[in-house]
Amino acid sequence: MRLLITGGAGFIGSAFVRLVLSERPDWQVANLDLLTYAGNLENLETVEGHPHHRFVRGDIANRALVESLFPVDAVVNFAAESHVDRSIQDPERFLATNVLGTHALLDAARQKGLSRFVQVSTDEVYGSIEKGLFTEDSPLAPRSPYSASKAAADHLCLAYHHTYGLPVLITRSSNNYGPYQFPEKLIPLLVTNALEGKDLPLYGDGENVRDWLFVEDNCRGVLAALERGRPGGVYNLGGGAQRTNREVAEAVRRLVGGPSRVVLIPDRPGHDRRYALDCRHARRELGWRPTTDFEAGLAATVAWYREHRAWWERVKSGEYRRYYEAHYGPALAAGSPA
Ligand code: NAD
Ligand code: DAU
Repeated sequence: MRLLITGGAGFIGSAFVRLVLSERPDWQVANLDLLTYAGNLENLETVEGHPHHRFVRGDIANRALVESLFPVDAVVNFAAESHVDRSIQDPERFLATNVLGTHALLDAARQKGLSRFVQVSTDEVYGSIEKGLFTEDSPLAPRSPYSASKAAADHLCLAYHHTYGLPVLITRSSNNYGPYQFPEKLIPLLVTNALEGKDLPLYGDGENVRDWLFVEDNCRGVLAALERGRPGGVYNLGGGAQRTNREVAEAVRRLVGGPSRVVLIPDRPGHDRRYALDCRHARRELGWRPTTDFEAGLAATVAWYREHRAWWERVKSGEYRRYYEAHYGPALAAGSPA
C-alpha cells in the first residue's frame, strides 16, 4: 500500500501516521502537510527517520505538488483548518484549504487514479441537535464557516463518486481528544490552563454538549473505513460519551487539582448546542466501535500533558499566546466564576 496522508503533522493526522507505521509495517506513507500554526513536526518525533515515512511540506491546494506525489493507492485527507473560533474570525483560509484544497486532491486522484480516497469529515456538518442522534442520512445543516467548509468538501467528495466513480469514503467523527492536541481546543486548553493554575474559560452557560472520542479510536475507525469501507459510503464515528462542557471542566479540575476556577465568558457566535451521533452503520459495516472509556481517556490525556510540558509550553508561546490574549483576555477579565 502506497498511502498519501495529508495533515499528518496535526493532532489526528499524526496519530494516524503513528498507528499505520506501527500496525501496517509493509505500507509506505507520504505525509503532505503545510505546517500551519497547527502543524508541528514534534508531533512526529516518535517516527522520525522511519524508513516507510516521507514528510513533504506543502499545500494540498498546490495541484502540481499533489500530482507529483502520485502514483499512490490511497489518499487519507486530514488536512484542514480545524478550529471553529478561528473560522468565525477569518473564514477565507477555511475555504481555501477545506474546500479548494480538498477539490485539488480529488481532481488529482481522478486524473491519476487510485483505489481509495478517505475524506476525514466531522459531525458538525449535520448542525446541532437538541435530542436524539444524527444518522448518515440526516440532512447536512452546517452553521459555522468551519462546518460549512467541511460540508462543502463532503458534497464535492460524493459528487466525485457519483459523477466520476472515484472510490471516495467519508468518516464523520465527533470531538476528538488525546495527546498532541493543539491547546486552542477545549480539552487541552482546560488541561494546560489548569496545569498553569489559570482560569478555565467556558462559553455561554457551559451547558453545550459534545460527544468525546479518544483520538486513537477515531484513527482505528478511519483505518477500518480505508480497508473495509464501501466506496461512496459515509461513516459516523462517535465516542458515545456525551458530556456538557461544564462536566468536562469539572473533571479536568478534579484530575489536575490546583487553584483554577471555571469562568463563564460571552458565548461563541452561533454556538451549536449539542452534537450526538448514531454509529450503528460503522459498527455493522466496519466492525468499528470506540474502546476507550471517557474517564480513562481523560486521565491518560491529563497524564500526557503533565509529562509533556515542554511540548505545550512551546506551542502556547508565540502566535498562540497572541491569539489567546486577544481572544480570552478581556472576556476572562469580565467573566463570572461558574
Ligand atoms: P489540526 O488543526 O490539529 O491539524 C490540521 C493539520 O493540517 C495541520 O498539521 C496543518 O498544518 C495541516 N494543514 C492545514 N492546512 C493545510 C493545507 N492547505 N495543506 C496541507 N496541510 C494543511 O486538526 P485535527 O484536529 O487533527 O483535525 C484533522 C481533521 O479531522 C480535520 O479535517 C478536521 O476537520 C477533522 N476533524 C477533527 C475533529 C477534532 O475533534 N479535532 C473532529 C472531527 C473531524
Ligand atoms: O465535533 C467535531 C469538531 O470538534 C471538529 O470537527 C472540529 O475540528 C473541532 O475543533 C471540534 O469543534 P468544537 O467547536 O466542538 O470544539 P472546541 O474544542 O472548539 O469546543 C468544544 C466545546 O467547548 C464547544 O461547545 C465550545 C466550548 N468551548 C471551547 C473553547 C475553545 C468553551 O466553552 N471554551 C473554549 O475556550
